[in-house]
Amino acid sequence: AEPLGVGLVGCGTVGTGVARLLLEQPDRLARRAGRPLDLCRVAVRHPEKPREVALPPGVVTADPAAVIADPRVDVVVELIGGTTVARRVVLDALAAGKHVVTANKALLAEAGGEVFEAARAAGRTVCFEAAVAGGVPIIRALGESLAANQVTAIQGILNGTSNFILTSMAERGMSYPAALAEAQRLGYAEADPTLDVDGSDAAHKLAVLAQIAFGVSARPEQIERRGIDTLDAQDIRFAGELGYTIKLLAEAWTGESTTGGREVALHVAPVLLRRTDLLAQVRGAFNAISVHGDVVGETLYQGPGAGMMPTASSVVADLIDLAVGRAQATFAAARLWSREGKGFVVEPV
Ligand code: HSE
Repeated sequence: AEPLGVGLVGCGTVGTGVARLLLEQPDRLARRAGRPLDLCRVAVRHPEKPREVALPPGVVTADPAAVIADPRVDVVVELIGGTTVARRVVLDALAAGKHVVTANKALLAEAGGEVFEAARAAGRTVCFEAAVAGGVPIIRALGESLAANQVTAIQGILNGTSNFILTSMAERGMSYPAALAEAQRLGYAEADPTLDVDGSDAAHKLAVLAQIAFGVSARPEQIERRGIDTLDAQDIRFAGELGYTIKLLAEAWTGESTTGGREVALHVAPVLLRRTDLLAQVRGAFNAISVHGDVVGETLYQGPGAGMMPTASSVVADLIDLAVGRAQATFAAARLWSREGKGFVVEPV
């Protein structure tokens, strides 16, 4: 069968993982996808820099536009992060008739409406399983598997870097700067780690989940947030002595509003959890999300929330779904759902 042509824009931690998976497991992926996944072009900022992955000759370019314009490319995988160049790349790719796979939660949180409208106009699909909780399949869980429910609450550890720092400080007595440096070395942190530790990254992810679960388009700045950068070593030590663990939680609650409608409250903050709580036991760069649905009750999803191969696992799953034709249905459903829910208001309860 015709290969699915893949063009990567960005080859940092996640891009390297995606390239590695595509190049190291071509047979497995072709079997799952029903056709080969062909890495045709890779745009990188510094083509001359030595890389961890041996890209085939002729594949590398410094120009994202060359990836988008390549007629062999069916899907553009946006992995540069940020919201300026990435927004242009995604919109240009859709306008050129390409599907898009992205791990960019900041972009979806800030410009999701524009991106999905562009996809609808172009008749193309935007897949984003990797944008929230790395390797944990939470987008499909919320968008597909729980489709019969009205979600009533979401509680999650959504930032691997913060959780890694908190675990390292509590269990290994590491200092905050040393733990952050380690998280950066292990490829968990954002290019600008301020986004990790001030709660912004978790807020972006919560905005994406809230869009799917409740249909609310919350601007990231509407989400009240505090990060772990407000804590010191003493807070963590005292919490431990009292039998508690501090976790950075992203939470969404629904309730009756004072005007009789429904409202959703969204916030991110470090909280004290009893050491026996399930979420208290999520360690290192793992993420966990508890979702309460009115039909199913409470469900819990857990796994590696950051890092090269876990995030690549989700990106490549999106590529397989696109190759099979499954993604079109899945992600169209998520979009439709978010358009139906416009009636919700976001205001803190
Ligand atoms: N910097 C993010 C984190 C990467 O630490 O969770 C995964 O989105």
